[in-house]
Amino acid sequence: MRFFLILLLAFTFFIAHSQKNSDPYINKSLIKVHSINEAIVDSLSEFNAIPISCRGSMLESNLIVDSLIIAWLNNNNIPFSIIQNNMAKMINQEMDNIKKIKYQRSSNWYSSYRELDEIEDKIDEIVASEFNQKTGYVTKEVIGQSYEGRDIWAIKLSSVNGTDPKPAIVISGCQHAREWITPMATTYLIEHLPGLYYYDDDFNIFLNEADVYIIPIVNPDGYVYTWEKDRWWRKNRQINLGSDCVGTDLNRNWDFDWNGEQSTSQDPCSYIYVGSGPFSAPETSVVSQYISSIPNLVNHIDVHSYSSLIVGPWSSSDEPTEDNDEIFCLGIQMQAAVSNTNDYPYLFGTGTVNNLLYLISGGMVDWIYGGLSSLSFLYELRPASLYYFDSNWNGLLAFDNSEEEILPACEEFFQGVKEMIKWTYLENCEVATGCSDPAAENYYCNTLEGEMGCLYIVDVNTPPQANGSYNLLEYSLPLGFIDDGSCIYSSSTESLDQNKLIIKSIDILGRQSDSKGLRMEIYDNGTVEKKHIY
Ligand code: ARG
Ligand code: ZN
Repeated sequence: MRFFLILLLAFTFFIAHSQKNSDPYINKSLIKVHSINEAIVDSLSEFNAIPISCRGSMLESNLIVDSLIIAWLNNNNIPFSIIQNNMAKMINQEMDNIKKIKYQRSSNWYSSYRELDEIEDKIDEIVASEFNQKTGYVTKEVIGQSYEGRDIWAIKLSSVNGTDPKPAIVISGCQHAREWITPMATTYLIEHLPGLYYYDDDFNIFLNEADVYIIPIVNPDGYVYTWEKDRWWRKNRQINLGSDCVGTDLNRNWDFDWNGEQSTSQDPCSYIYVGSGPFSAPETSVVSQYISSIPNLVNHIDVHSYSSLIVGPWSSSDEPTEDNDEIFCLGIQMQAAVSNTNDYPYLFGTGTVNNLLYLISGGMVDWIYGGLSSLSFLYELRPASLYYFDSNWNGLLAFDNSEEEILPACEEFFQGVKEMIKWTYLENCEVATGCSDPAAENYYCNTLEGEMGCLYIVDVNTPPQANGSYNLLEYSLPLGFIDDGSCIYSSSTESLDQNKLIIKSIDILGRQSDSKGLRMEIYDNGTVEKKHIY
């Protein structure tokens, strides 16, 4: 009997440990259904198609489906295209790559994504370092536990200089488990802000004037789950009464416009499930209580991925806030700082960010801005949402920036945070006057006029025409602030043809278009053609 028990234990142990984070995607495909309508959506939901977008509606999303759904679509002559066939394979390749990099001993900590334990070790190392013994800037505190009982940490960066309570900034990361770049970026801050403070004479004054609190991983249970069981898990791991589905979307669980209309769901199976009530998730409850207890909170960043955006309040409406001028001023300065770091374009906006993002109810930013009289911003790190225009673009891969991009993404985020810290010190924001002001030092301003990028909103729900062109819905949002506020483009040397205007744009990676790039051609009939230049 005992022998069998041991065998059984060993077996369950084996099963538990042989599970991989690609398993939920075995034999699954990512598809786009063309001319989708509500009736199709209803059937697809019944078949458990998973929309990958976190907007409210399945109409706008690519879908993860199994072979049954594919057969059903075929049988009903519903046109669709397959974007990615073997989704599990894609994840396995990524995980193999991570393993390989980790075994190269020379590798930098930021050359690979890191598991929860590795991140904790790293933070503990920073706290215990000789530098920190000497300066005492960094302290780590456990502020509470997640649903599964993991510690949630807050790291305080502070100097004994200056008068308490100093203005405080909070940075939070990884509410959404699959956004793997975000704990890397928050750890990078913990590692690099103290040194900057100590060694950089231009900067050290600022940390005398502000305390920075970093909550690197708000959702540790979800994060572990993305490594062990499901690479693209988003929510926490809380059991829902009366449902087999697990998890609350933490960034829908804050007590501000909770369960409002914007990108929310009351279905526990949804990616954007609001939870059973405001702060029903232990994680949001712990973090909100902690943040409420911080004296003199003046600003906050909640870091997510992806889309390369900096987003100010409101999140739940497109209405401007009372502090719109200041939010814009700081937002644009952060945008410039972040974009200039590696010439990788980020955009700034509030609300839907000119339709690049969607409104959300019950988000952290609105709770902090609306409830705590502090400013608050949301960052969406790389890659850019302009990738949407690429029909081969697989949105889920965007949660896996290539390993070489981890460090640049962390560096540019760091520059944005620095800008915010400076803002606490300067107290009010000077609106930069545009490209004619040499102090603006804006990447976009340094870009030649003809190279200026503009943003195109194209109708990706209608399949592209044979030449690959999409219908143009709207253009153009200037990528940077330009004197007259318009999008600058030049057609002089580029117009090959009378009836089309070729806009040479910086490519979606922000590189100049003389290297490999993307450019858009806008025709008089209102279509846009996307061209790759090699
Ligand atoms: N992508 C994030 C989410 O779904 C943040 C969205 C914030 N949206 C906004 N308009 N501020 O939670
Ligand atoms: Zn997110």
